Amino acid sequence: MSELSAPVLEAPELMATEEVVALTKRLNYGTWRYQKSWKPLHVVDAEGCYFTDAAGKRYLDFSSQLMCVNLGHKNKAVIEAIKQQAETLPYIMPGYATTARAELSKLLLEVLPAGLEKFFFTTSGTEANEAAFKIARMYTGKSKIIARYRSYHGSTHGSIAATGDPRRWATEPGGKAPNILFSPEVNCYKCPIKHAYPGCGIACADYLEHMIENEHDVAAVIVEPVVGTNGVLIPPPEYFPKLREICDRRGVLLIADEVMAGWGRTGEWFSVDHWGVKPDILVTAKGITSAYVPLGLCATSAKIGEYFEDHYFAHGHTYEAHPLTLAPGIAAIKEMQRLDLVHRSREMGEYLGEKLRALKAKHPSIGDVRGLGLFWAVELVRDQTSKAPLNTMQDKVDGVPMVTEKVAAAMMQRGVTMQAWTSHFVIAPPLIIEKSEIDLGVEALDQSLAIADEFVASLG
Ligand SMILES: Cc1ncc(COP(=O)(O)O)c(C=O)c1O
Repeated sequence: MSELSAPVLEAPELMATEEVVALTKRLNYGTWRYQKSWKPLHVVDAEGCYFTDAAGKRYLDFSSQLMCVNLGHKNKAVIEAIKQQAETLPYIMPGYATTARAELSKLLLEVLPAGLEKFFFTTSGTEANEAAFKIARMYTGKSKIIARYRSYHGSTHGSIAATGDPRRWATEPGGKAPNILFSPEVNCYKCPIKHAYPGCGIACADYLEHMIENEHDVAAVIVEPVVGTNGVLIPPPEYFPKLREICDRRGVLLIADEVMAGWGRTGEWFSVDHWGVKPDILVTAKGITSAYVPLGLCATSAKIGEYFEDHYFAHGHTYEAHPLTLAPGIAAIKEMQRLDLVHRSREMGEYLGEKLRALKAKHPSIGDVRGLGLFWAVELVRDQTSKAPLNTMQDKVDGVPMVTEKVAAAMMQRGVTMQAWTSHFVIAPPLIIEKSEIDLGVEALDQSLAIADEFVASLG
């Protein structure tokens, strides 16, 4: 046995749950929150659409964690791919070719919108957006990026500056990345510029064009084609073709952030596929490996790729094209194909949508229910006419206890977990979910909404 061979490790003594939680809380940051109230649950196992805490209680994962475990937990093929890659070639620097890299790149050509043919791999969605911004600026020689208010693009310097939601606010005093502007989002339930579809003629896109014209130096427009955390906002059919035409006419790149909406979530491989629109750059992460390992992707058009044949590509990471992240990506795509999950998302989405819509008739606190595929939002309101939210973005930043969080906590007690935002929930179960599990999740929501209904009743 060589000196470098691994010694046989003794199984570590299992820590008591109290210690696990106490150490986690004391030595780690809880993200996007006040630390004082953080009480992390000790999770010990996860399989299919469920995860299990240390006390043995099982939870239906009704939002696929952070809308990312699209294949469900413990998919065997993905786990096997991680093991095999770890045994073959756990790391090699990005300058080399690897089989995993070549195979994943070839598979991506099958599933991405046509025309996206040159890839830069990252280890998160935010890094993939940073890459997109740099590439767009290098390629166009222009500086400005237009994003939209109801959006999230990640937590690092450029991506948080392009984030329209309040997660951006805290970075501003320290100096937000320059040259990023915001246009109004598409929100036909509550239009930010007070228009009504279809009479509006898609005025929000016209406004965006007005910005491009007047700002002049615009490199790219970035949109979540179906907005994720900020409320599963689905554009009307005319929006994307119109935006594509505006960008083409004005010589501006269109970046589709499909970090959350990609990988079958909306019932197509990518949400832009619903409108047949081809972005110049598509950014994704999360479902690309079902989140088993951290992988992000910035995919550009062949034309952008060609530009860098004779221009310096000034970007890179130690972990770019990390083999251990790429091999499970291959397995995840093949599993999606084998299980026909894009189709399944569409079918099960219709079932889930019908059940969620039925809740609206029963609960005065529900203002809107909307979704595509297995990607749904239930928006809560103080009253259905004014559409005023139960809590505001300012409440969230101020640490005010949110009604949605109380509802989500009640759901957890009933054994179902779901992502709660300021005044809505994002429901996005694993794409392998069964009808009986959808029934269970919706039933828990139905019961837990009593809390929101009581709050609305208390307003008088
Ligand atoms: C649309 C969108 N873009 C970017 C990101 C950032 O991805 P990551 O958390 O992997 O950096 C997210 C994360 O939720 C997202 O939803």
